[in-house]
Amino acid sequence: MVYTCHWGLVGAGDISELFLQDLLAVPATRGVTDVAHKPVAVAARSLDRAKTFIATHVPDLKDSIKAYGSYAEIVADSTIDVIYIGTTQSTHYEVARLALRAGKNVLCEKPFTINSKQAEHLAFVAKEKNVFLMEAVWTRFFPLAIEFEKLIHEDMVIGPIRRVSTDFSVYCPADPSFRLYNLEAGGGALLDLGLYALMWMFLTCYKHPDNHRSNPDVVKAVSLKSPRNVDETTAITTLWSKPKILCMSTCSLMMDSPSECDVIIPIHGSRPEKIIINVRGEEDIRDGRKVNDRYPIQDCVLSMQIMDEVRRQNDFKFPDALDFVEDY
Ligand SMILES: NC(=O)c1ccc[n+]([C@@H]2O[C@H](COP(=O)([O-])OP(=O)(O)OC[C@H]3O[C@@H](n4cnc5c(N)ncnc54)[C@H](OP(=O)(O)O)[C@@H]3O)[C@@H](O)[C@H]2O)c1
Repeated sequence: MVYTCHWGLVGAGDISELFLQDLLAVPATRGVTDVAHKPVAVAARSLDRAKTFIATHVPDLKDSIKAYGSYAEIVADSTIDVIYIGTTQSTHYEVARLALRAGKNVLCEKPFTINSKQAEHLAFVAKEKNVFLMEAVWTRFFPLAIEFEKLIHEDMVIGPIRRVSTDFSVYCPADPSFRLYNLEAGGGALLDLGLYALMWMFLTCYKHPDNHRSNPDVVKAVSLKSPRNVDETTAITTLWSKPKILCMSTCSLMMDSPSECDVIIPIHGSRPEKIIINVRGEEDIRDGRKVNDRYPIQDCVLSMQIMDEVRRQNDFKFPDALDFVEDY
């Protein structure tokens, strides 16, 4: 029997459009035949915006996808199984709390929150409500990432790992009206791009069989800030004493990554450059799981903790309203 997952999208911006198109891709094209995805509703801060989003991007479905003019309304829709949060990061904590408290499963865009305390709080509410919660770091689920882990940790094709360099940088003109150059929108390279560089660090160092999921022993970081005080370039060095790995993770808004690679590992032996393997996915919500095995919420919290530490070392502060954590 085919399980149909009903989605409600919050935010009518760029990433919600891409996510909607992906939701509509036929699962059989990726080898999945027992799960279907159905967008049920879209919410924006104004009803007109939600309606325009649906009419523009999915005109054929305009009569079957509901438009809501507030986020509170969509989380109350009993036909929705999962709320996808595609708003700016400055709002993730608030919108995710709203959805979780309404008893909805939640998939929230990256960066998950502004700080780790907010992430911990959301994990607490999800547990209390017995619902699924995950940050939408799609890269972790690419067949390439899964095969990469197997090759380096199980097959050990490159032998012992000693030094890792990970980077994700995208040149963005320093436009103060763009959300990445706006402190109030939770901008900066670290939260938006750095988390991908840290994701490869997680796969290589944190998930190394000798690390036993221990935290890094040392986190040292330097940041270069823009005149409006967001970080434009950040370099994070982490030391992992159990597997004895030094990892350098960098991110920048001032230049593009040096190559197409997200991960560069100095190796002796051969280095796989491209792998395409289709891996059959699982369905957490259908199968009653509240946490994803490949990206447990604890990994997300640790990633946020490392970014907190990077910000602390570099006196990189967001407005108090963004860093706020509710008592619980
Ligand atoms: N996973 C990925 O590969 C990927 C790629 C790009 C972006 N993202 C993430 O997705 C999120 C949205 O990025 P985007 O590029 O889609 O941004 P965007 O086009 O500017 O859309 C952001 C949406 O946020 C909503 N919003 C709610 N409160 C807001 C506020 N106070 N200020 C501004 N917008 C507010 C708006 O929704 P309304 O429609 O309700 O007004 C707007 O449509 C970011 O967190 C970003 O990091 C992820």
